[in-house]
Amino acid sequence: MERILVIGSSGQIGSELILTLRKMYGNENVIGTGRKTAPSQAVLESGPFEFFDAVNKNDLYDACRKYDINIIINMAAILSGNGEKNPMLAWDVNMNGLLNVLEIAREMKMKQVLVPSSIAVFGPGTPLDRAPQETVLKPTTMYGLTKVAGELLGDYYVKKYGLDVRGLRYPGIISHETLPGGGTTDYAVAVYFEAVKNKKYDCFVKEDTRLPMMYMPDCIKATIDLMQADFSKLKHHCDFNVGAMSFSVKEIADSIKKRIPEFEITYNPDFRQAIADSWPNDVDDTAARMEWGWKPSFDLEAMTDDMLNAITEKHKKGII
Ligand code: SER
Repeated sequence: MERILVIGSSGQIGSELILTLRKMYGNENVIGTGRKTAPSQAVLESGPFEFFDAVNKNDLYDACRKYDINIIINMAAILSGNGEKNPMLAWDVNMNGLLNVLEIAREMKMKQVLVPSSIAVFGPGTPLDRAPQETVLKPTTMYGLTKVAGELLGDYYVKKYGLDVRGLRYPGIISHETLPGGGTTDYAVAVYFEAVKNKKYDCFVKEDTRLPMMYMPDCIKATIDLMQADFSKLKHHCDFNVGAMSFSVKEIADSIKKRIPEFEITYNPDFRQAIADSWPNDVDDTAARMEWGWKPSFDLEAMTDDMLNAITEKHKKGII
């Protein structure tokens, strides 16, 4: 039986992933954790939740023993923008937290660990178009640097200890339930919220900035498909490229304007422009497609319809 610990389940992806996992494996079998941020009402009411910092190994150990955990999903991370404001915190959370997860999973002989990586592993030297699975990984951010090290560390535990560790390089994730915090791709979420609330958005990257992106339902699907993939068919483990769509800020704005004609966007690039410029436009995800059958469902137009409908509903109800 699966007993799953989702570290970081108050965050953008964790808060939605945990609800899907609870439906699949039973509410009591999927335990949420958070460092500081309170979980959503839905997460709190549907199953167990513990507050602790995974950087504290004893606390993580206690939770794993208390709930008899055999799968850990480590969604806790300090993202690219916040990581540049506080590089030491990014190192501590992203590296020491991960090392604790891997060591405890090894010691307790767990079934599986899932550790997401990111397009932030790329940097100067990576081809900008269709960044290959195997390519130069020389990121310029602390976040990217910890993600490269995390991929290598996960692969090391697979090879050295036979621990089943898996991971995928998430692109920018767009969603309407929980806001992302401190990432470079956050503009692609904020633009939708601001379009509904204020009919205008001041974007922190230039209009021709183009990055790989994915809508949350595809992100959840990719994560669960990789968890459930047959281990013996995996040639890669912790570093799968996963693509879904790629668009410039102008293309998102145009897609919103088709539905909200009075929407206006302005551009005021800040330090995150250089981060965005160091990441590729899109990725080659052939390995994920071949090894575990990855296939996305949402394109920009389908996502814009869904995002605007959901956010408009929340706005009408006064939730946002
Ligand atoms: N969304 C992340 C960031 O912008 C990339 O994985 O930092």
